[in-house]
Amino acid sequence: MKKLIALTAFSLLSLGSGLAAAQAMDPPMKAVTPASAYPVAPAVGLYQAFGEQAGIRALMDDFVVRLKADARLAEAFKEANPANLAKQLTDQVCQLSGGPCVYKGPNMKEAHASMDITRGNFNALVEVLQQSMDAGGIPFTRQNQLLALLAPMHRDVVNVR
Ligand code: HEM
Repeated sequence: MKKLIALTAFSLLSLGSGLAAAQAMDPPMKAVTPASAYPVAPAVGLYQAFGEQAGIRALMDDFVVRLKADARLAEAFKEANPANLAKQLTDQVCQLSGGPCVYKGPNMKEAHASMDITRGNFNALVEVLQQSMDAGGIPFTRQNQLLALLAPMHRDVVNVR
């Protein structure tokens, strides 16, 4: 039930994200970097709620292990280098959640352009992230606050419609 609520919230946020992004783009205009391409402000204290950089890294290490083990996603992630992927995700989530990191990898469109990714793949990845957050004891409200920041990325990541 909890998962259902989270996924529903996530889907709704995805729908509204275009509008939110458009509004947030109004002045001041800032340089668009890979991680700032989705200009939604993080909830206050979100970075701290995830245990700062070390907590986020532990979460992402666990997430990558689960991605590789998940029946729906294992094929897509079988060649991924766990340490590199966890590092990139950590920088990205750290920055998005209001931490001091800077994600220096490719933007989400470029990073996924060579793959065929469906909405189903995207939702499966979100479910796996929820499993990791549950296992890491991240409070449900905080989980949804992070998912709200990731939701707008679906339009760049999902490329099979
Ligand atoms: C909100 C959703 C997502 C986020 C934030 C995200 C983020 C990232 C990041 C930061 C990278 C590293 C880019 C690089 O350094 O080159 C990456 C790579 C990758 N992503 Fe995603 N991604 C998302 C969704 C997905 C989905 C749905 C799939 C497929 C099912 C996917 C498959 C991959 C694969 C296979 C790689 C390459 C990994 C490697 O070879 O190291 N991603 N993603």
